[in-house]
Amino acid sequence: MVAIRWTQEEVASRLVKYQDLQPCTTAFIDTHTPGSDQKENFTIIGPGVAENPDQYVHIDIPHGFNIGGARQPAGCVNSQHSHETAEVFVVHTGRWKFSLGETATDGDIELGPGDTISIPIHVFRGFTNIGDSPGFLFAVLGEDDPGQVTWAPYVFEEAKKHGLMLLKNGRLIDTTKGETRPPHGIPMPATPAGDVKQLRRMTADEITECVVREVELDEMPVNVFGEDGLSESAIVGVENADEKMPGGKMSWLHGFHLRRWTVSPGYATPWHWRNEAEVIMMHRGSLRFVWDGGELEMRPGDVLTAPIGLARQYVSGDDEGAIAYVVRGGDSPGQFREAAR
Ligand SMILES: [Fe+2]
Repeated sequence: MVAIRWTQEEVASRLVKYQDLQPCTTAFIDTHTPGSDQKENFTIIGPGVAENPDQYVHIDIPHGFNIGGARQPAGCVNSQHSHETAEVFVVHTGRWKFSLGETATDGDIELGPGDTISIPIHVFRGFTNIGDSPGFLFAVLGEDDPGQVTWAPYVFEEAKKHGLMLLKNGRLIDTTKGETRPPHGIPMPATPAGDVKQLRRMTADEITECVVREVELDEMPVNVFGEDGLSESAIVGVENADEKMPGGKMSWLHGFHLRRWTVSPGYATPWHWRNEAEVIMMHRGSLRFVWDGGELEMRPGDVLTAPIGLARQYVSGDDEGAIAYVVRGGDSPGQFREAAR
């Protein structure tokens, strides 16, 4: 491996601090609809599925997956929609209800901080902040281009009443801002009943198989570095025999892996590198990313993408340790590689 020197500035450009997140409040067709008009959408890594070209993408390096976020005040609803690729949520703060079906009546499930849900493709889903304060979700979408969202028919009706029109090319026209449909822009018709019928329907019982509670993760820690101090628990992804890591509860192929780290206070990992993308979504505590050339501190809500091949060390805060959710690229990411020091 040829060592490439990474400057402080270069690695810092791969860290998105929670307080620096730039929201889009008009990313989707339902963002003028009362009850949904206060939601904030974030595209942290990759463009995601936002329908507004003004959406700010923090890191535009293709990873093979997208990382986004949603922040909603109490009671705010994200309308029913379906995706063409995997959609996984990690609850960072707040209490959330995920509802299934065209009109959100097929079943629902409630999640709290640290819980994860992977909603299969081609299923209508929506989510509501059912807590009494704003809440934030991390979202991971499969593939570099996750395609377009399919909205439930009622979402088009409501949007029309409030001045938003979606074009077939995925672009949103906000008539309340004086925007008009371009000459060749074709409005997206409300999703036809035939298409709705093609989608899969799931019950509340079935969706429990797509949820991992934070407490379940405490029962399956693996010391991936072969020493106490950092344990990793599988959530999404297949078994890795080299790491002695079982498959996650969501073991079907997503195009990425998701695991949770629990790091003891003051623990420093061995120096190591990886051959695939590694994204840290910080949940609790603090963690420093250290490399030959600098270091960066991560706090709750921050997202860092570690450069492929860069020798690194993670060091947790002395007082509180750290809990982080880690996304790695590909269906079979390899084991960590020891770095010579
Ligand atoms: Fe979604």
